[in-house]
Amino acid sequence: MTDMRIADRIDHLGTETAFAVSAEAAAFAGVGNRVFPFHLGDLNLPTPSTVVDGAVQAISDGKTGYCPNAGIPQLREAIAANVSASHGVEYAMENVVVQPGGKPTIGKFIMTLMNPGDEVLYPNPGYPIYESQIEFHGGVAVPYTYVEGPDNFEIDFDSIERNLSDKTRLLILNDLQNPMGAECSIAEHERLAELVREHDLSVLCDEAYFDMRYAGKSTSFVEQPGMAERSVILYTFSKKFAMTGWRLGASIGPREVVDVIAKINVNDESCSNHFIQYGALAGLDGDQSEVLAILDTLRERRDVAVDALNDIAGIDCYRPDATFYLWPNVTESMRNKGIDDYEEYRRAALHATGVSFCNRLHFGRPGPDETGRYIRFAYSGIDVDDIQEGLSRFKEWCES
Ligand SMILES: Cc1ncc(COP(=O)(O)O)c(C=O)c1O
Repeated sequence: MTDMRIADRIDHLGTETAFAVSAEAAAFAGVGNRVFPFHLGDLNLPTPSTVVDGAVQAISDGKTGYCPNAGIPQLREAIAANVSASHGVEYAMENVVVQPGGKPTIGKFIMTLMNPGDEVLYPNPGYPIYESQIEFHGGVAVPYTYVEGPDNFEIDFDSIERNLSDKTRLLILNDLQNPMGAECSIAEHERLAELVREHDLSVLCDEAYFDMRYAGKSTSFVEQPGMAERSVILYTFSKKFAMTGWRLGASIGPREVVDVIAKINVNDESCSNHFIQYGALAGLDGDQSEVLAILDTLRERRDVAVDALNDIAGIDCYRPDATFYLWPNVTESMRNKGIDDYEEYRRAALHATGVSFCNRLHFGRPGPDETGRYIRFAYSGIDVDDIQEGLSRFKEWCES
């Protein structure tokens, strides 16, 4: 009970409904059921020892007080060098502001560059925090979508071009993409860059999964001519270094924008955790074998999961080269089960098989023309044996 009145602006704040799926799965497990956790994009793999040792050493060395609000200079330099090498664009320490995770970059980018009433194009299906932060800060969230291509999902440019207006100020690009595992081709980057120039937009490049890849090489949108000057990269240690709970990331972009984001840091958290920054620095500078081993483990899981899903009648699934998400088309499977409602399908599968996954509804409001049905499997938090066992139970249920 409270006599306090919650402010009106909170009505506009969204959330990550995937956490509700976790709670349901935990409740189901809590009464003695076996659960196969495909719902959350977390890793059940240890953080590399280079990072752990670096952080422990920093605690022993007394790195436990406040530090600069933009991050310790050594880490800003190391991130700039790392991203310059992988992106082919020169970034310096002044272009990097350290954050407590990747997620804070989303709200801070929007606060820095969006005025109330501005329109922001964002991916839907997509990470739900974009829509939440745009609307919370008084902007208009304008969705764009993806279509099925020959090898993977592709941006539906029609849904972008149709929705561009003289009020559009920002574009949010999540490349490589959660929840679909989509990845832009160079041609898609070129076409987007043309639209960005033509409409004078600023871009958030959410690259949370840039290094989570199993074949080929990631290419950043900022490599397009003139785009580094108009883009902020969301960078995170969460995925590559299996550091989701440590909370460390960065915003990387033009110095003027980075300086404003550092000023927001002063107002919000003062600085990111001091000793964890030394852990991350040791991770970037040190031996990469444990980081590569994480990718090997995830590659094997992906292959097992994709093969098993494609073996189920009524389910079609791409094999994305990156991220740790699968977005199988289950239109036919839902029809076979005689279930039209996404949540009913998800709960029925959980209760019959213990397999827990998210669905389309956890990644934004479906558009009026959407006919295909999709669910999301994350294979980052489940071992190969459990993937096999869970998906074999799921197959039996789907085909019964
Ligand atoms: C697309 C996307 N962006 C950002 C984040 C946030 O990552 P972090 O844990 O570093 O805050 C996530 C986390 O799942 C994500 O999927």
